[in-house]
Amino acid sequence: MEKYSHDIIIVGAGLAGLRAAVAAAEVDSKLDIAVLSKQHPLRSHSVCAQGGTAAVMREKDSYDLHAYDTVKGADFLADQDVAEFFVRQVPKEIVLTEHWGCPWSRNADGRIDQRPFGGHTFPRACFAADMTGFLEMHAIYGKVTSYKNIRFYDEWFATSLIVEDKTAVGLTAIEMKTGEMQAFRAKSIIMATGGHERIYEFTTFSHSTTGDGMAMAYRAGAPLEDMEFVQFHPTGLVPPGVLITEGARGEGGYLLNANGERFMKKYAPEKMELAPRDVISRAEQTEMLEGRGLQGPYGSYIALDLRHLGEEKINERLPLIRDVAIKLGGVDPVKEPIPIRPAAHYSMGGIKANVKTETSIAGLYAAGECSCISVHGANRLGCNSTADCLVFGTVAGEEATKHASSSSLHEVPQQMLAAEENRIHEIISRNGNERVPAIRDEMRQIMDEKVWIYRNGLQLETALKEIRQLKSRFRNVKIEDKGKPFNTGLLETLQLDFMLDLAEVTIACALPRTESRGAHSRTDYPKRDDQNWLKHTLAYCTRDGPRLEYMPVTITKWPPVARTY
Ligand code: FUM
Repeated sequence: MEKYSHDIIIVGAGLAGLRAAVAAAEVDSKLDIAVLSKQHPLRSHSVCAQGGTAAVMREKDSYDLHAYDTVKGADFLADQDVAEFFVRQVPKEIVLTEHWGCPWSRNADGRIDQRPFGGHTFPRACFAADMTGFLEMHAIYGKVTSYKNIRFYDEWFATSLIVEDKTAVGLTAIEMKTGEMQAFRAKSIIMATGGHERIYEFTTFSHSTTGDGMAMAYRAGAPLEDMEFVQFHPTGLVPPGVLITEGARGEGGYLLNANGERFMKKYAPEKMELAPRDVISRAEQTEMLEGRGLQGPYGSYIALDLRHLGEEKINERLPLIRDVAIKLGGVDPVKEPIPIRPAAHYSMGGIKANVKTETSIAGLYAAGECSCISVHGANRLGCNSTADCLVFGTVAGEEATKHASSSSLHEVPQQMLAAEENRIHEIISRNGNERVPAIRDEMRQIMDEKVWIYRNGLQLETALKEIRQLKSRFRNVKIEDKGKPFNTGLLETLQLDFMLDLAEVTIACALPRTESRGAHSRTDYPKRDDQNWLKHTLAYCTRDGPRLEYMPVTITKWPPVARTY
């Protein structure tokens, strides 16, 4: 096994990972930085972000307003000190990305334009048509490749973190081209590997976002926080689940049921289609459950009507989703409503990290969706995710640099490397009668049926039992390809292994939370219960499954109140 050494290794090359690389390189041009990713950076899921990045850019808006919207949207589970810090950092990120070439859409007087987004009381979504993530990523990728001290390891699959004495000292990764496992040593490691929504079938997520970093950190001893809170985006295109941006409603789109009613008037009379996502997804689900969904070959759905916006506006503001609706949904939104229904979209939970992105493992940082810095609490507002990646990617890059400058490289223990090589060898040598696609499909079916928008105790208990059965069947899985170069069968198997752990954690955290808060809606406990549940869940990895602990929420100025829209 070859050994590579760097001052900082960033795992994941999406928005948070690339932003962290730039931040680190800016602090110290002598630092040796590596970005390791299982695919080319510009294929990261961040390029799929569409609607915008929320930032306070006008005098009539304010940091307090943005922070309060975020905290209320989070159903008061966000740590308010973190939310206050976060909102103050975003505007400068908008300006920086503008300087690096992000073509933000403009208003008539030439300023960066902003559109309304769900749960925000001010139109604060800066956008680049409906390709915001794609264009932010291209701007930052252009910037990151201008530094001589950043080395890219594209198409390297990280398999484990190496932790000694509660300190991250390195990681193992498979070079896909050769299939060889290699060891990396680093003074600081940043996890920026995105969410885990591929544990669901109907999701807006790319097939590659399988929660690898969350699972690696969890297995290495870092707790995962608030994993029961999974966001369902109200407008996943039927049938593929691909995102149809909330920007479509920000531009004035309507949601209609089978009777042609704008049903949101019953659920959020003030905000209507611009209520937060948890509220709208529940409303859509209720309409469908009560028989007011439209019926199509893929089951019940809701109509997203943009026809009244007109072709010119749709082409200028929403060109991507018009294209996507035509190519993947078979409808032209200029002429027909788009068939949609809620889709798994975002993990509010992730690797527990503080406002400096430090995790409980020294030298390990987490940023972007794989982390839980606790800005988003029980429900994230739209456009706060790209903002989070930029802000906390920057923080992670800076903090990892400080740590790297005052630490030295550790020798990676030989027995740990050998154990990881043996683990992978054992998986590839299995000759059982189980197949990865079958277990993966069953896992997703369980999650879609029992751990969806509405859950109850019985469903969650059953789901936990069934996921554990899948975990045991996984031990009997056979990979057909026993070769080394580009063994995608092996990589799919390792991803499934990560996802099964994360599905188990998601359910194990949801089961004891006997209340409804944000995206966690229990039909058997329909009310929020601040007395018992205004607290964060922490899940620790043990041989017998997740062990749970709880931690208080930080309240600075906004005590919880009833949440109406
Ligand atoms: O609807 C969207 O464009 C998604 C934005 C987000 O998740 O923040």
